[in-house]
Amino acid sequence: MNAKPELRYLFQPRGVAVVGASSNSDKIGYKIVDNIVSGGYQGRIYPINPKGGELLSLPVFPSLQDVNGLIDLAVIVVPARGVVEAVQACAAKNVKFITIISSGFAEIGKADLETQIANYARSQGMRVLGPNVFGIYSSRASLNATFGPKRVKKGRVAIVTQSGALGIAMMGRSVVESVGLSAMVSVGNKADLDEGELIEYLVNDEETRLVLLYVEGMPHGERFVETVRKATKTKPVLVIKSGRSSHGAAAVASHTGSLAGSDAVFDAVMRQCGVIRAENLRDAFGWCKFLDYSKPALGPNTVIITNGGGIGVLATDACEKYGVYLYEDLAVLRASFSKVTPAFGSVKNPVDLTGEATPSTYQEALNAGLDNDNIHAVIGLFCQTAVFDGNALEAMIADAYQKYTEKGKPIVFTLLGGELVESSILALSNRGIPIFSEVYEAISCLGVAFAQSRHMVEPHYRIEEAQIDAATISQITRAALEQKRFFLLPQEARAIMDAAHIGLPVSRVARTIDEAVQYAEEIGFPVVMKVVSRDIVHKSDAGGVALDLDDAAEVMDAYQAIMSSCREHAPHAVVEGVEIGQMVLKGTEIIVGARRDPSFGPVVMCGLGGVYVEVLKEVAFGVYPLSRREAMSMIKQTKAYQILLGARGEERKDIEAVIETLLVVGAIVKQCKDISDIEINPIMVYESGAGVKAIDVRILLSKSQETA
Ligand code: ACO
Repeated sequence: MNAKPELRYLFQPRGVAVVGASSNSDKIGYKIVDNIVSGGYQGRIYPINPKGGELLSLPVFPSLQDVNGLIDLAVIVVPARGVVEAVQACAAKNVKFITIISSGFAEIGKADLETQIANYARSQGMRVLGPNVFGIYSSRASLNATFGPKRVKKGRVAIVTQSGALGIAMMGRSVVESVGLSAMVSVGNKADLDEGELIEYLVNDEETRLVLLYVEGMPHGERFVETVRKATKTKPVLVIKSGRSSHGAAAVASHTGSLAGSDAVFDAVMRQCGVIRAENLRDAFGWCKFLDYSKPALGPNTVIITNGGGIGVLATDACEKYGVYLYEDLAVLRASFSKVTPAFGSVKNPVDLTGEATPSTYQEALNAGLDNDNIHAVIGLFCQTAVFDGNALEAMIADAYQKYTEKGKPIVFTLLGGELVESSILALSNRGIPIFSEVYEAISCLGVAFAQSRHMVEPHYRIEEAQIDAATISQITRAALEQKRFFLLPQEARAIMDAAHIGLPVSRVARTIDEAVQYAEEIGFPVVMKVVSRDIVHKSDAGGVALDLDDAAEVMDAYQAIMSSCREHAPHAVVEGVEIGQMVLKGTEIIVGARRDPSFGPVVMCGLGGVYVEVLKEVAFGVYPLSRREAMSMIKQTKAYQILLGARGEERKDIEAVIETLLVVGAIVKQCKDISDIEINPIMVYESGAGVKAIDVRILLSKSQETA
């Protein structure tokens, strides 16, 4: 296998060939050559077409072999059936990168063909972008090798997109929205190059200030996580993802899977890696623009300056939603704003200048915010009034924006009003000033910028891998798979918990009523009883559980009740016995689990346990391995955190033991490939230092690991 070429040759090729260049101006092979020429690319352009001749004043070469110069990038735009031959010709010409525009591969079920092409290309020292792409734009090389819009605004935002049509739309929209691009890469079917490698290059590219991804699916999620975790410490990475959940939900048959499809996992993993997720293009472009133009704030203290009370309240809500901290020191606020605020206004944040505010009072308030070193960012809200000369608005905002930017203080504006206001918004927005007609849009920009700053200054925490006895665990899972069983019986799950040193209440499986009484007496009353059957997954629903049994008589009654109820509920179920367990002391019930995600590999999960899981469906996910800090932040995302901290005067619970358990279940799924899902629900958490006890453990095995 030849060495991989450096990615800079994709973004700064010295020569570009277009295989399938056409003089028919309706064809994509024409549009691409036209875009390369009109974009002002300075390298050599080689249109390739067996007919030869001339195209857009360039000589057309009958084949790649006829070209004398260096070709770093070949754009293939011939029908799918001709692609293999064209790629072979590229190899003979020592091409470094190939962009395969042609459709007709994995998207129509021909994944093998594109894999063969990608493998062949790599074996020849070439890399492939695509197939099924619309091309690449690179501002450094003034190269527009796409069949997207001709006009591109150069700038510092790099977009990597899986969807071609949407990518083309984003290219057009970026001009309208005044978002300058450093690159636009269409990755299509990702037979070879994918987002991970491209991000790695782009975060090191001086011309790129931030990266925006449009993703539909992520087959190599684990690799992506590794790259993007590092990348976001240097530059913002934003993502828009569509295609919510369907294959994840289908792939995960367990209880955990029914709580949340793959989209929740995607969301959690992006958050864990510091990637900013946008719901739609509008937010994404707004945030890109803001992050591109603004410098990181020196601190979190934000002040709202408004001439309307209602919009001030809306903005306060938006600040809470987007994690923007509203500065509260009344003495400082009074010192800065009392001279511009009438007695019936408010110097409390939001600073309400009231409907009486004129351009000069507004200007003064903005200056006061600028001059006060305790204030790090300002949100300017304006509602059109008859007292305020709207014609003064544009100049006032432009002036404030410039002064704030020079001082390194982020500022965003929201303007509400009629035609004059709308035209001011448009004019200012075209000048790159963050100005919006919606409070939430404006404040989300600030929230995203603060989140990015916080993420960048947060130290790298050590990613932990827990130690487990994987060999013992594998023996247990292999034995079950040999019986063609894809879930473990309670005693097997128990043995795995023992091997992983996760505490369990004492228990034994009784096969007769006498054994049940004997074991209960040995364990000590009170006890709990649960049916043991591979055919009954939801034991409570089948009447297979009895709690808090105080003596032998209760155990006998419960045994009979469990047996008859399970017979009725699941007449064909094979019942192996009844588990007699120690009645556990009450603690905080939470759920902890791990599963193998089709994209991201081992993923851990936690949340409020017991019945709350069903009712609240509120769990947090994290990709494994993870740092203790990340595990803690998962717990903090759920309502379990407040309870674990000790609600209503209770002692703080053993959160460290929960973190340890999360790491251990993650390690089991990572190291024991037979296991696809573990769910401990509930796991009782006791006071600090007293640890946890796994009450109910369910372990599913992966069908693909069945012994051959
Ligand atoms: N070397 C050089 N030229 C060749 C070769 C070759 N090996 N084979 C054919 N050609 C020439 C053809 O003669 C033709 O030139 P001509 O116009 O002078 O006759 C030219 O290459 C193009 O070939 P055609 O057979 O005319 O193919 P056409 O242009 O109709 O389609 C294309 C080619 C665009 C690659 C098509 O097969 C395709 O896949 N279209 C979909 C592209 C797409 O949507 N990609 C995803 C983008 S993302 C999105 O969804 C927007």
